[in-house]
Amino acid sequence: MVLGLLTITSIPTVTGVAQGVSEQRRQNQQKVDAKRMEKFCMDVVCEEGKDEHNLSGKRVVLKDEKAYLDDPSPSHRSLKPSHTAQAFYISYPETEETKAHPRGLGLVSTVSDDPPMLNWLYADKDTHEVKYGNRTQSIAHVVGPWDWADEETTVTLEKKDMFVAVEEEDGKWAVYFDRDEDWCERVLAERGLDGKRVVDIRIRRKMLEQVGGSAG
Ligand SMILES: *[C@@H]1O[C@H](CO)[C@@H](O)[C@H](O)[C@H]1NC(C)=O
Ligand SMILES: *[C@@H]1O[C@H](CO)[C@@H](O)[C@H](O)[C@H]1NC(C)=O
Repeated sequence: MVLGLLTITSIPTVTGVAQGVSEQRRQNQQKVDAKRMEKFCMDVVCEEGKDEHNLSGKRVVLKDEKAYLDDPSPSHRSLKPSHTAQAFYISYPETEETKAHPRGLGLVSTVSDDPPMLNWLYADKDTHEVKYGNRTQSIAHVVGPWDWADEETTVTLEKKDMFVAVEEEDGKWAVYFDRDEDWCERVLAERGLDGKRVVDIRIRRKMLEQVGGSAG
C-alpha cells in the first residue's frame, strides 16, 4: 500500500493541540518526528565468536511477504528478486477496534521502488516470523512498538532487541522475533521446524545516507 493511503492521518503529533502547545515544543516535536522518519537499512550483527554461519553484515531483504537475510549488494544476492528493506518509524494507525490499546510506533518499509510502495513490518503473532503487509494484513499481529536502543543504533520490538535467524532451507535464513526468549523453540516446533539452525542476531540501523541513496 502507498504511504499516502496508510499514514497521512497518523501524523497528528506534528499538528499540536492549538494554543496549548508552545512554539518551542512544537518545533522539538517536529525534529523528533523527522528523525523517526529517516530511512535506514537493517544489518545484522552476531555476538563475537558465535558467527559460524557468517551472518554478520547480512542485510534484511523482503520477499514473498517475509523478511530474510542476504548480501547487502543486490547483485550478490541468492534470493532473487528481493527488495532491500528501507524502513522508518511512524505511529501505527489503529482502528476503532484496536485504538483502546495502541501499539505506538510502527515500522514502515519500502517493499518496491517502482512503483514506490510501503508496508508495515510486523511479527506474526503465532509463528513469530517477521513479515510485511498492509494494515489489514498486519493489524492482528505484533505491529509494535518498534523502537531504537543503544543510542539509536539497534532495532527493538516490544522493547526487546532479540531476533533470531532461522535457516528454513539450505542457506535461506528467515528473520524471526524471539518473543518468548527461547530461540523460537516452541513456535518452530509447532510448525515442525525444530532441528533447523537458529542463530541469535541483533538488527542494526544503517542510515540510508551511509548506504548511499537507494539500496535497490
Ligand atoms: C563471510 O562473508 C564475507 C562477506 O559477506 C565473505 O567475504 C567471506 O568470504 C565469508 N566467509 C565465509 C567463511 O563464508
Ligand atoms: C491488503 O493486502 C491484501 C493482500 O495483498 C489485499 O488483498 C488487500 O486488498 C489489501 N488491502 C488494502 C486495504 O489495500
